[in-house]
Amino acid sequence: MQSKRPIPPYRIKMVEPIRIIDRKEREKKLIEAGYNPFKLHSEDVFIDLLTDSGTGAMSHFQWAALMKGDEAYAGSSSFFRLEKVVQAITGYLYVMPAHQGRGAEQVVIPALVKHPGMVFFSNIHFDTTRAHVELSGARAIDVVIPECFELDHYHPFKGNFDLVELEKQINAVKAENVAGIIMTITNNSAGGEPVSLENMKGVRKLAQAYHIPVIIDGARYAENAYFIKQREEAYRDCSIREIAKWQFDQGDIFLMSAKKDGLVNMGGLIAIKNDRHLFELCQTRIVPMEGFPTYGGLAGRDMEAMAVGLEEALDLDYLTYRIAECEYLGNRLLEAKIPIQTPVGGHAVFVDCGAMCPQIPYDQFPAQAVCNALYLEGGIRAVEIGSLLLGRDPDTSQNRQADREFMRLTIPRRTYTLEHLDYVADCLISVYQKRHELKGLAFEYESPILRHFTARFRVVT
Ligand code: F0G
Repeated sequence: MQSKRPIPPYRIKMVEPIRIIDRKEREKKLIEAGYNPFKLHSEDVFIDLLTDSGTGAMSHFQWAALMKGDEAYAGSSSFFRLEKVVQAITGYLYVMPAHQGRGAEQVVIPALVKHPGMVFFSNIHFDTTRAHVELSGARAIDVVIPECFELDHYHPFKGNFDLVELEKQINAVKAENVAGIIMTITNNSAGGEPVSLENMKGVRKLAQAYHIPVIIDGARYAENAYFIKQREEAYRDCSIREIAKWQFDQGDIFLMSAKKDGLVNMGGLIAIKNDRHLFELCQTRIVPMEGFPTYGGLAGRDMEAMAVGLEEALDLDYLTYRIAECEYLGNRLLEAKIPIQTPVGGHAVFVDCGAMCPQIPYDQFPAQAVCNALYLEGGIRAVEIGSLLLGRDPDTSQNRQADREFMRLTIPRRTYTLEHLDYVADCLISVYQKRHELKGLAFEYESPILRHFTARFRVVT
């Protein structure tokens, strides 16, 4: 029998109690946190939708694999097990673990910057990726399709590159100044929106014509492969593993935060298709930054858990439920007419708080105001992905204005039930009904970089 509600293809073996503190307590905690949910203690949060990064549940196979960890400093057998799994999934020859995604970025990105004034293109750079590009003295330019930010316009692959614009930009800066093209799959900052295989092939073709390396930022590559199977006619009957492999065929370098589709709480990966020179350069760089190349900042047991998690994330039943639960939450919000990015992406629902609270100007951070209201309403923690995250223009010191003022309701993997998501929807609907009463925020403290993590605010009255 077909159920109307998505059914998880796993059952619960171990539970972690959560509790909700009462409204008065929540008000106190939010004030103590300076109206910044990043500064809340997790025990004061009932349902934590801050991120899907490292917050998922491991399977019993992964927990069992931890016991096999070989903790040798060099040549750990756990590394060779992981290497084999990554080589089989990607087809890439060289593999190095890193402690997480940004660890992989700090090793590889500067290694691609050959001279000052170079540029990276991406559909949209994730914020740590952008930071590493800029720290390496290069510029980060996004070339996503314009439909990406037309929220209620249906497009099956809103994460796609604008190929015409990409070629135009390559010519404008000259190919020899392009350090790489970074394909972010799925495209986190735009709503976890997928990139089609056709589009990835288009990027590949351009990159080859201009001799530019292609980097796959594949934190959520398995979710992207699932969307390709669902939405791209030519691949409907192909397996997730086949599609994943074809995705990797379009790149030269794979960087991964394994805290997402690696289904682990900590870990990252670097894989290089066949460029031995680059591999040797990264091997040299990784030692002082992450650790010896066969552990890269991870314990042997972490690599064991990742080797198993990478396989589990390619399971069709797992992915079907994973994507369906995000869609379920999205549909509950759409029914209540709450403006969200559609179609819903792979790891989160992105709520358009600019549209929801037009009374709050962008530099008073409407999405942060809604995050705070949601915490007060139901002890739920979400995250701002808008002008607060974007920071200030380094030249003018003015607040940069995001395309959209998003609040991201990020769903950890295999962690919450549909009852939890129903509760989230109910609470947000209740906030939505009071949206006209919400007020903006002004800084009490603002750090010069990555301000969203540590800022403190007051409510503008
Ligand atoms: N690339 C993408 C697309 C990401 O989403 C992230 C992390 C990273 C790289 C960096 O990986 O955190 O392991 O160092 N995204 C998390 C998020 C933090 O909440 O979206 P990391």
